[in-house]
Amino acid sequence: MERGPDGAVSVGGVDVRALAAAHGTPAYVLDEHDLRIRARAYRRAFTEAFAQVGAEVDVYYAGKAFLSVAVARWVYAEGLRVDTASGGELAVALRAGVPGADIGLHGNNKSDAEHAAALDAGVGRIIVDSLVEIERLADTVAARGGDPAPVMVRVTTGVHAGGHEYISTAHEDQKFGLSLAPSTGTADTVADADDDSPAMTGLLAVLARPELRLLGIHSHIGSQILDPSGFAVATRAVLALRARLARRTGVLVDEVDLGGGYGIAYLPGEVALDPDRIAKEIAASVEQSAADLGTDLPRFSIEPGRAIVGPAGLTLYTVGTVKPVRVDDGRTRLYVSVDGGMSDNIRPALYGAHYHAEVVGRLSSAEPVLARVVGKHCESGDVVVHEVRLPGDVRAGDLLAVAATGAYGRSMASNYNLLTRPPVVAVRDGASRVLVRRETVDDLLALDVGDA
Ligand code: LLP
Repeated sequence: MERGPDGAVSVGGVDVRALAAAHGTPAYVLDEHDLRIRARAYRRAFTEAFAQVGAEVDVYYAGKAFLSVAVARWVYAEGLRVDTASGGELAVALRAGVPGADIGLHGNNKSDAEHAAALDAGVGRIIVDSLVEIERLADTVAARGGDPAPVMVRVTTGVHAGGHEYISTAHEDQKFGLSLAPSTGTADTVADADDDSPAMTGLLAVLARPELRLLGIHSHIGSQILDPSGFAVATRAVLALRARLARRTGVLVDEVDLGGGYGIAYLPGEVALDPDRIAKEIAASVEQSAADLGTDLPRFSIEPGRAIVGPAGLTLYTVGTVKPVRVDDGRTRLYVSVDGGMSDNIRPALYGAHYHAEVVGRLSSAEPVLARVVGKHCESGDVVVHEVRLPGDVRAGDLLAVAATGAYGRSMASNYNLLTRPPVVAVRDGASRVLVRRETVDDLLALDVGDA
């Protein structure tokens, strides 16, 4: 965002007032250059750091953070592949022209139809998440005929990382993956032949089915991670499991995916995880593990979502009402209501996530006051920004931008209160274009077929 002399902010070279006039509010605005630069930075940082230790790495963009046809094309053009987590995401990646071989499919409860769609598309990998899925996928392939399905087994290493418990996916008491923990001892001490961990069991189950081709092992330890040490621990654990499997079966799998989860800055003053730093740190643990284990290195992959698209997006709202409310400690808080809310950004309500907002359509010299930006939904948890200082003269009609909403905003949006979901507008070189159009009430009514 850049602020011009009259106080109006522009993004991607487009004045926010022009964006609001052309596309209405609320609107998600995505800066194409910014997104591409981030994609490039991750690819370069990991490629270089891993090359230093003699390993190759692929970067998959995690489409769950936000996927549209244009975004899939941008990241693909930047040399990334696309990770999908449902038949819907897979369809968008394919519509974008991403070859199936460069797409991965995730999910802890994929349907048979999703497996079939992935096989039809010839996806490069299906990440299986349970013993039930392994058998189901193998049965599907057996019934269809054709080549064995390329499979990675998702494991949980016990590393707990991330900003909020709900988004930390590698501790044991949760639904994802197959645990590395054997029933007796620990993954570090268990004898190869005694390793009865769900992870080892899953790998053996894949090897036992000729309809499946075991590509490798997958580990994702959480999201919005700002302390990189967990990645190194998880990497070592996965490489050790790979070595145990090789000693036990003679099969040294070719690929290891280390997941995503790289944290970004949401507030001014916060510091995002630096791709070079994290890449070097993970590469160092790869090198160390390889030396300790005496095995050749696999091909690696990572799956960042938020770090690519999060900072590249902002949400533009229009202020509707402003209400001073006396709070318990005697202070006054300005409740600033905007024309969206928890339906376009559920993260504050769901995770207590913090964001930053600014008045962007004009310059104000008014003293900043304590404010809370809230939405228009019928519940008090409908908060967009918990606490922010806004100019004391903030008023109806002001344009407000909330920064860093590119990830998990539109992709987790709902129609709560039957609000129509906002458009996603791309900006670049002074021009804007709609990537995903605004929903209309007619869209909502078209789904309501109950009066037939
Ligand atoms: N790979 C796998 C297997 C994942 O489960 C995820 C995220 C990613 C990659 C991408 O993670 P990222 O780089 O974007 O952190 N809705 C939550 C985040 C949920 C993340 C779920 N999995 C939020 O809004 O914070």
